[in-house]
Amino acid sequence: MAFSERIARLKSSLIREILAAAQRPEVMSFAGGLPAEPMLPKVEWAEMPASMGQYGMSEGEPELREAIAAEARSLGIACEASQVLIVSGSQQTLDLASKLFIDPGTEVLLEAPTYLAALQAFQLFGADCLSVPQEADGPELDALRQRLERHKPAFAYLIPTFQNPSGVRYSETKRQAVAELLDEFGVTLIEDEPYRELVFDEGRAAPIVSRLRKASWIYTGTVSKTLLPGLRVGFLIATPDLFPHLLRLKQSADLHTNRIGQWQALQWLGSQKYREHLAELRDFYRVRRDAMQVALEEHFADLAEWNVPEGGLFFWLTLKQPLDTRTLLQPALEQNVAFMPGEPFFAQPEQNPGYLRLNFSHVAPERLGEGLRRLANVIRQAQNAEAA
Ligand SMILES: Cc1ncc(COP(=O)(O)O)c(C=O)c1O
Repeated sequence: MAFSERIARLKSSLIREILAAAQRPEVMSFAGGLPAEPMLPKVEWAEMPASMGQYGMSEGEPELREAIAAEARSLGIACEASQVLIVSGSQQTLDLASKLFIDPGTEVLLEAPTYLAALQAFQLFGADCLSVPQEADGPELDALRQRLERHKPAFAYLIPTFQNPSGVRYSETKRQAVAELLDEFGVTLIEDEPYRELVFDEGRAAPIVSRLRKASWIYTGTVSKTLLPGLRVGFLIATPDLFPHLLRLKQSADLHTNRIGQWQALQWLGSQKYREHLAELRDFYRVRRDAMQVALEEHFADLAEWNVPEGGLFFWLTLKQPLDTRTLLQPALEQNVAFMPGEPFFAQPEQNPGYLRLNFSHVAPERLGEGLRRLANVIRQAQNAEAA
């Protein structure tokens, strides 16, 4: 069959397939990045006007765009509702941005590690991925400057607030430094913030796009981690030089985002019940984060190092004795434990063995210790087998 040349670059996700096979209820899964089931809010549909079943505008529902622009302004982002495009989950922002910027061989700049579905989208269009190592407070600035001096990436894709997978939140200093570098070199920023509201302390750092003076930008967010991922409602806000192109790409992709999900999202955004729901979410996830930290200290202290995340959904473990963590998945599943190997979060997986991403929101605290004990044993056995 003659497919387009890009289909050869479409990576099948072996891990996704294995994890799909691990949906059995007895499996303790640290693999996903989903909201905890008990935290999905009850939603009412009775008041939805019948007209929501009609075709809508490609830009999205006007009231929802207004609400999102107002929220963004409260974070310090200077923008108007006319710059807001409602998308089918922030994943669609990555697809539209890929179509806008990437030809085979186009350079893009990413954190290492980064969100694996972003890598998948950029690589499908043939991107050449330049990576900047991530530290506990954001990217290594010297490495970032070096890449920008030597290359002219079409954009930098960053997840500065509770990154997936590393849980890193950029410091104030690094946010400012990154903004200044992108301005200096004139590189467009795509800032992806699905986890901003899942914060467990008082820290509230302004987005990097709000600090840019010259560079173009796209800021993207979603209701997936705070309301319902099944709504498939996200948004992007773009500078006026990018917006018309993104709008046309949206039209050609799917005409507009489903209005039913947009209507539901609008019942929440900016409301008192949404603020209350967010407060409940933060308390619930903070408790689970703390329980995970206790269990990790008990079972992983000799095996790995990690930082305690101040938000988001993940712990990111660095094994003291690195090995290809993909080889641990099958033996872990045999013990009814699932986790995410670290390698697929890197543009160069083979050169980055020895990391694990563990979600802390899903497994109930009473089963956590047992799950981590089993996973630690699988790692010990693999390390012993390698040493033998
Ligand atoms: C960094 C990042 N970006 C985008 C997404 C996609 O979210 P959505 O459900 O809005 O498409 C996710 C989901 O896990 C994510 O972690």
